[in-house]
Amino acid sequence: MPLAIVTGSGGLIGSATVEHFVGRGFDVIGVENDMRAQFFGPEASTSRTSSRLADSYPEHFRTVDMDIRDTEGVRKLVRDNAGGLELVVHTAAQPSHDWAASDAIADFTVNANGTLNMLEAVRHEKADATFIHMSTNKVYGDRPNFLPLIETETRLELPEDHEFYGGIDTSMSIDRTMHSVFGASKVAADVMVQEYGRYFDMPTVCFRGGCLTGPAHAGAKLHGFLSYLMKCTVSGTPYTIFGYDGKQVRDNIHAADVVKAFDLFHGDPTASAVYNLGGGRQSNVSMLEAIALCQEIAGRELEYTLSSENRAGDHRWYVSDFSDFEAKYPSFKLEYGIREVLQEIHDANVEQWSAVA
Ligand SMILES: NC(=O)c1ccc[n+]([C@@H]2O[C@H](COP(=O)([O-])OP(=O)(O)OC[C@H]3O[C@@H](n4cnc5c(N)ncnc54)[C@H](O)[C@@H]3O)[C@@H](O)[C@H]2O)c1
Repeated sequence: MPLAIVTGSGGLIGSATVEHFVGRGFDVIGVENDMRAQFFGPEASTSRTSSRLADSYPEHFRTVDMDIRDTEGVRKLVRDNAGGLELVVHTAAQPSHDWAASDAIADFTVNANGTLNMLEAVRHEKADATFIHMSTNKVYGDRPNFLPLIETETRLELPEDHEFYGGIDTSMSIDRTMHSVFGASKVAADVMVQEYGRYFDMPTVCFRGGCLTGPAHAGAKLHGFLSYLMKCTVSGTPYTIFGYDGKQVRDNIHAADVVKAFDLFHGDPTASAVYNLGGGRQSNVSMLEAIALCQEIAGRELEYTLSSENRAGDHRWYVSDFSDFEAKYPSFKLEYGIREVLQEIHDANVEQWSAVA
């Protein structure tokens, strides 16, 4: 049986990856230390998801309580399981732009050193395993904020004749912009993953995600925007929008669509690939538009305030262009748009969120 190692297996993307590849006949080992609860508090713990996965797939999934910063531990885990190892999906991270500045050492060591530990272990123990890294659009820093955006009633938008109207592609420079502490640690990881592909000829890929979402997201104030917004709407928790009059635009991609891209890449991998991956033109929304949709779906008003202060380096508009991925993997199609994602997040969580209302 083929084997996959998935780091961050209790998280949004990690858990979807486990479910998908178990379904495709893999044995999967998860690496997960519930550090999300340390970052964002107990309500963001991923332990429930880890237990659910272990209960659902007792024969084919096990989770190892390990910190990806543990160089020796990671190396031993990969060595001991190198036999059938075909695929490594690396999603463990400190994922919040805002949190990173509060503990830059933790952020950098998890995001950069942790990624290097995974790369080194795979390079030495099973260099032909496909290495999939979940990167982020924050590697472009605040460069997208210098696009000539126009303001409509509900959103910021690019003129239709602009080269990036269809979305931002990987030709955008990642240099000389304000990345935020988080963006910088993710750049280090992203560039290292590319380097292991180029220098050591390993089948590596960086997927630079827009906003990633889905009902399994343990949405918290500092991370998991659509999930947290719906949670506030359902539970009657006040919400603050930081800056840009609520007209900032994000594209959002469902975890299930992300994992489909992983699978396609693994089926035909190349060395040192880099793709943007997000909801693109099909699935993007401004804060004001997302609030209107949440209210409609939940059938109640969200109490929100607009703060004039934006978060440092926060994007005003970001839509991904992943047409290069679609060209190489023509069967890739997004299944979810914003409304379907929000409806699913609502339906999966309404009971528990209503209970705390
Ligand atoms: N969610 C988004 O909107 C988004 C957008 C772009 C990129 N990304 C990237 O995608 C990846 C996955 O994001 P997610 O939303 O699934 O995050 P998540 O927080 O839901 O999942 C990450 C998991 O990794 C675990 N983890 C953290 N540090 C660890 C460590 N040191 N050792 C072992 N496990 C550890 C956490 O406990 C958590 O369960 C991250 O690399 C993130 O930067 C996320």
